[in-house]
Amino acid sequence: MHCNIWSASSLALLLVTAGGVADACQRVRHEHSTPLVKRQSTPLTPLTPDEDVLVRSVSSTTLSEWSYYYTHGQHLAGKNQSMAQWTADRWAESGLDSGLVSYNVYLNYPVSKSLRLRHANGSVIFEPALEEAVLDQDGTSSYPDRIPTFHGYSATGNASAEYVYVGRGQRVDFQRLLDLGVPLEGKIALARYGGPFRGLKVKNAQEHGMVAAVLFTDPADDGGMTEAHGHAAYPDGPARNPSAVQRGSVQFLSTYPGDPTTPGYPSKEGVPRTDSSVVTPRIPSIPISYADAIPLLAALDGHGTTGAEVNRTGWVGALNVTYSTGPAPGTVLDLSNVMEDKITDIWNAVGIINGTTYADETIVIGNHRDAWIVGGAADPNSGTAVIVELAKALGQLVAETGWKPKRNIVLCSWDGEEYGMVGSTEWVEEYLPWLNATAVSYLNIDVGTSGPHPGLSATPELHDIAVETMKKIVWRETNRTMFDVWNEDNQGYIEPLGSGSDYTAFVHSGIGSVDIGSWNGGSDPVYHYHSNFDSYHWMTTYGDPGFVNHKYMAQYLTLLAYKMADADLIPFNVSTYSTEMNNYFADLEKTVNSNSSVLDLSPLRAAIDDFTTQASALGALQQQLLLSGPSSPSDTAASLTPKEVNQKSRDFQRGFVSQGGLPGREFYRHVVFAPGVDTGYAPTTFPGITEALVESRNVTLAEEWLGKTAAAIKVAADVVKP
Ligand SMILES: *[C@@H]1O[C@H](CO)[C@@H](O)[C@H](O)[C@H]1NC(C)=O
Ligand SMILES: *[C@@H]1O[C@H](CO)[C@@H](O)[C@H](O)[C@H]1NC(C)=O
Ligand SMILES: *[C@@H]1O[C@H](CO)[C@@H](O)[C@H](O)[C@H]1NC(C)=O
Ligand SMILES: *[C@@H]1O[C@H](CO)[C@@H](O)[C@H](O)[C@H]1NC(C)=O
Ligand SMILES: *[C@@H]1O[C@H](CO)[C@@H](O)[C@H](O)[C@H]1NC(C)=O
Ligand SMILES: *[C@@H]1O[C@H](CO)[C@@H](O)[C@H](O)[C@H]1NC(C)=O
Ligand SMILES: *[C@@H]1O[C@H](CO)[C@@H](O)[C@H](O)[C@H]1NC(C)=O
Ligand SMILES: *[C@@H]1O[C@H](CO)[C@@H](O)[C@H](O)[C@H]1NC(C)=O
Ligand SMILES: *[C@@H]1O[C@H](CO)[C@@H](O)[C@H](O)[C@H]1NC(C)=O
Ligand SMILES: *[C@@H]1O[C@H](CO)[C@@H](O)[C@H](O)[C@H]1NC(C)=O
Ligand SMILES: *[C@@H]1O[C@H](CO)[C@@H](O)[C@H](O)[C@H]1NC(C)=O
Ligand SMILES: [Zn+2]
Repeated sequence: MHCNIWSASSLALLLVTAGGVADACQRVRHEHSTPLVKRQSTPLTPLTPDEDVLVRSVSSTTLSEWSYYYTHGQHLAGKNQSMAQWTADRWAESGLDSGLVSYNVYLNYPVSKSLRLRHANGSVIFEPALEEAVLDQDGTSSYPDRIPTFHGYSATGNASAEYVYVGRGQRVDFQRLLDLGVPLEGKIALARYGGPFRGLKVKNAQEHGMVAAVLFTDPADDGGMTEAHGHAAYPDGPARNPSAVQRGSVQFLSTYPGDPTTPGYPSKEGVPRTDSSVVTPRIPSIPISYADAIPLLAALDGHGTTGAEVNRTGWVGALNVTYSTGPAPGTVLDLSNVMEDKITDIWNAVGIINGTTYADETIVIGNHRDAWIVGGAADPNSGTAVIVELAKALGQLVAETGWKPKRNIVLCSWDGEEYGMVGSTEWVEEYLPWLNATAVSYLNIDVGTSGPHPGLSATPELHDIAVETMKKIVWRETNRTMFDVWNEDNQGYIEPLGSGSDYTAFVHSGIGSVDIGSWNGGSDPVYHYHSNFDSYHWMTTYGDPGFVNHKYMAQYLTLLAYKMADADLIPFNVSTYSTEMNNYFADLEKTVNSNSSVLDLSPLRAAIDDFTTQASALGALQQQLLLSGPSSPSDTAASLTPKEVNQKSRDFQRGFVSQGGLPGREFYRHVVFAPGVDTGYAPTTFPGITEALVESRNVTLAEEWLGKTAAAIKVAADVVKP
């Protein structure tokens, strides 16, 4: 999956317009004075001979071949074992010890659906197409085994009822509707995509007694790249094809990811299974295109409160309707959704190169392989092509120089990510003892490219190395480094990790992660997220003609992985964790003040200060060891060996997950960041405390989590302490 952003790269725009742009992803930027970065050209960091081999090994031609393979056969979760094997075979050719690891998981598949708009007397107003157009130019849009539009983990069921437009479907949207006196009980929700994870829209509708949900894509989220702004629609131009539908999971992601029936343990055949309704909806839901949404929205015009009067961010879209709440008395939707529930196998491909020096330190690199559609050229198979190419480049380095990594490298091609990070979560649950003992970092690439703007999110200890590595790549034909292009878009800001891709289970097991990709901005061709038009044809025509973004992302991830596996000292800056925690602390103070709450933050303050002291001491020691060279710690005052320092780098993060899970969602254990309970994708910082105040409004709970958060940071600080 991955947040359907056009505007991760529009942070500069956000600054200029003072938050006036409603981000489809609702990314929260923590405002801490950074000077505005303008266009600049940083000198390219010289490459070492090994790095030079790696960079030269990456080829747009082979990337395009891998992409072609992955985007011409259906590979919905649990449907294509041969594609998993093909991936393992490519890695084996590159010298990795490779094979498949399977899990037996709950998934469901679409059988049939229908939707009809009618008057109470039965006369039909409109029958939505519910399927995407078949395009002559785009071969995979007509494959006989193309995948219908549907919601993964949606419920089977029928509903006939009046309906209400609920905006983005967040809790605050529903609260606004209640305040306006709009009836919700027994109605069908019509919600706009974007903002919170789609499953939470359905959850919120269900919790308000609504009986079904219809989710549509609004072209307002396509920035200026719309037909209304004079751009032709795909395949004739870069704007959204009006029939495009966003498929996707409706799991309640912020409660827990992974197989809904096996929370906390791996889904092996024959294991006990729990009721999935804690994290999957009981009401049916269907996704539709904007072409299909227009008559539904138009029928609400003149009924209830208009969008302008509702006056909520993200409520009014770009269609020629008033975005009125409704309901329109006597105007009814008949909805039916039939799913086939299955316990079925999924296959992760796993490839390993053992480390030579630090056998108890492991770098995991992963990408998911499954897609909602036959294509998936951006999501996820641009990333899949990249990690096949990465393996090829490492193989080339071994062939040319006999290189061996000092740390273990593990490549993972996940299945079942789209339903809720199923393959990665089950794998982490199975291998947790080994990961807990050895994992240094998890590097994730989901959508490798949907456009030309490089972006990243990461846990703080990885910020510096992720940024420094960008200075080694020339970005496209700009004669500027990847760093310059990224920095201009993002003003040096690296977002924390919420959820929405396979880093989730790692982060909440205390394993730091970076998530990389390159995105389309508001003036780039529209990427048809989870639609048939995320195809090889779209990629070669609009998304990344010539596979250049693919190439630079592959070079970047390869250099990052190489450095992580090859450096004598793990290249972490632990002090960045202090900097970030201080920023989050300032945010928390604002929340507490705006609540005029009496919460005493001093234990948290003291824990962060302690962590800060220990992190600078460790940083100083790292510098000392770097200066003295890897093999001669003895002639310095260094009190620890490189191996001991590395173990601290590896282990301190486990402290952040040492105090048990967040209230009502025990899977999420990291005390510094977690996906927001009502956002799913976007992160909340110091989630235990913040959500106790803002969501549960329970000061006792906030106090309890203040104690746990401080305790967790203290555990981390004690590990960091040299
Ligand atoms: C699996 O994917 C490959 C490559 O795209 C394709 O050739 C094959 O037909 C797919 N298998 C199934 C069962 O759909
Ligand atoms: C059904 O109701 C609609 C709206 O009240 C009306 O316009 C239409 O003529 C009715 N159709 C029949 C067949 O009665
Ligand atoms: C909309 O809400 C904002 C604050 O949320 C307020 O400043 C503004 O006056 C409101 N506009 C209307 C038309 O009610
Ligand atoms: C918008 O809808 C109104 C009412 O249906 C119509 O009169 C108007 O021409 C439409 N505008 C555009 C730009 O399509
Ligand atoms: C649900 O609706 C479908 C389509 O209208 C219909 O075929 C089916 O019989 C209905 N099922 C139930 C249980 O009402
Ligand atoms: C890698 O190391 C593991 C654990 O020490 C060992 O079981 C495995 O055989 C090794 N693999 C190779 C290819 O040497
Ligand atoms: C993970 O390792 C830490 C030590 O670094 C230990 O305290 C903790 O119990 C381990 N957790 C699990 C789940 O194995
Ligand atoms: C590219 O950058 C290099 C070094 O910064 C400079 O010498 C060269 O003139 C630049 N080329 C173009 C086309 O801007
Ligand atoms: C580590 O990060 C801190 C704070 O972000 C910074 O002051 C320091 O210079 C960094 N250390 C190194 C070695 O770059
Ligand atoms: C804290 O403030 C938020 C919004 O500022 C509000 O929604 C919440 O109810 C407040 N919580 C408490 C405990 O007062
Ligand atoms: C607030 O949280 C405390 C601590 O977890 C709990 O005991 C109490 O029941 C909660 N209060 C409410 C009103 O939910
Ligand atoms: Zn994805």
